[in-house]
Amino acid sequence: MQSPNQPLVDNRDVAEMVETLAGFGAWGETGVNRLVYTPEWLAAQDQVAAWLAEAGLEVERDAVGNVWGWLRGTDRGKAIVTGSHIDTQKPGGQYDGALGVVAAIAAVKALKETYGTPRQTIGVVSLCEEEASRFARTNFWGSRAVVGAIVAGEADKLRAIDGPTMAEIMHDLGLDPARIPDAKRDDIAGYIELHIEQGPLLEEQGLPVGIVERITGYKQFWLDVHGQANHAGTTPMDIRRDPMAGAAEIISGVINTAHRMGRPAVTTVGRMTVEPNGRAVVPERVGFTVDARHPNEEQRQLLLERHERLWTEVAERRGLDLQVRVDSDRQPCECDPGLVAALAGAAEAAGIPSMRMNSGAVHDAMQFSAICPVAMLFVRSRNGISHSPDEFTSVEDATAGTEVLARALHAIAY
Ligand code: CO
Repeated sequence: MQSPNQPLVDNRDVAEMVETLAGFGAWGETGVNRLVYTPEWLAAQDQVAAWLAEAGLEVERDAVGNVWGWLRGTDRGKAIVTGSHIDTQKPGGQYDGALGVVAAIAAVKALKETYGTPRQTIGVVSLCEEEASRFARTNFWGSRAVVGAIVAGEADKLRAIDGPTMAEIMHDLGLDPARIPDAKRDDIAGYIELHIEQGPLLEEQGLPVGIVERITGYKQFWLDVHGQANHAGTTPMDIRRDPMAGAAEIISGVINTAHRMGRPAVTTVGRMTVEPNGRAVVPERVGFTVDARHPNEEQRQLLLERHERLWTEVAERRGLDLQVRVDSDRQPCECDPGLVAALAGAAEAAGIPSMRMNSGAVHDAMQFSAICPVAMLFVRSRNGISHSPDEFTSVEDATAGTEVLARALHAIAY
């Protein structure tokens, strides 16, 4: 039996696994380019399966290629599961997703070595896809399969940026798209995901670990502002119906609204198209995205009301025709108070300083919340950077997070 302050997790395990995994799809010095169902992704999932088997877990691969490891408990009930995703942005870094998989393996390995068989079954999962980096219109392919949220025929409709459909790519790997519903599970009692923060808050506070209370809600729009195309030299300003002027006012308006509401409200306009897109032409049409997020549902609704009122008013006043398409709309996801308390208790017991926080990014945990209670643990990201080869988390911070995860799993499952 360990003394309470002796660490369970070996930082060499964490460091070695992060480094080895980063070799599959290595991109330049520190980047990783590992898109779902590519040879480098397959090799990485094989490596994860090998580590799980070495740690003495029962390995399972499901219908979409998620890799599971089970440490069977003496009780026959549902499992507590931990893990994250193995795919990356193109290119991304070594930590987004991968660290959650590494931490899960290292934590469960340490628990088995130290305490043996648990009471409750513990599961580790390496999810096949989260990033939407190969298929622009899907993300959470792995976790959506687990919760049964992939709709019939979706694999035939989704097309990869490199050409083939999801169904064709799956077939090539020996995965049968008709069997996707088999990946749905009903044996999970809770899901805990460790992930890099991907933001600057832990670094600002000088803390290695954050315990997530809510995952942000969001709403994503495409706005089309139509006006009257005309000559840039001959059309007086006072009779123009200029969609660029309207778009500019809407864009600065929504951004300033989120800014004025203060943290953690965020609104982003990240993509824009202009027609006809000429130097000397008042545009006919300006289209752009609006992505608005808040982890508190009431505040999210307030932010959205303000945005909608603003763009309606601007379009009316300027005589512009505005069309608004909603691309996604998701309420915030509340983390389970019991799991949050287990993580907080584990951090305290390990003497690892932490804080409670929200997640401004969406994660697989949000999908799992459809079938079970969820919680998340963040570790500090250097300069808050992610989705980039520059993303970095120190071995010390990664191990601190893994230690908290291991102790929380111990408290829950033993
Ligand atoms: Co991620």
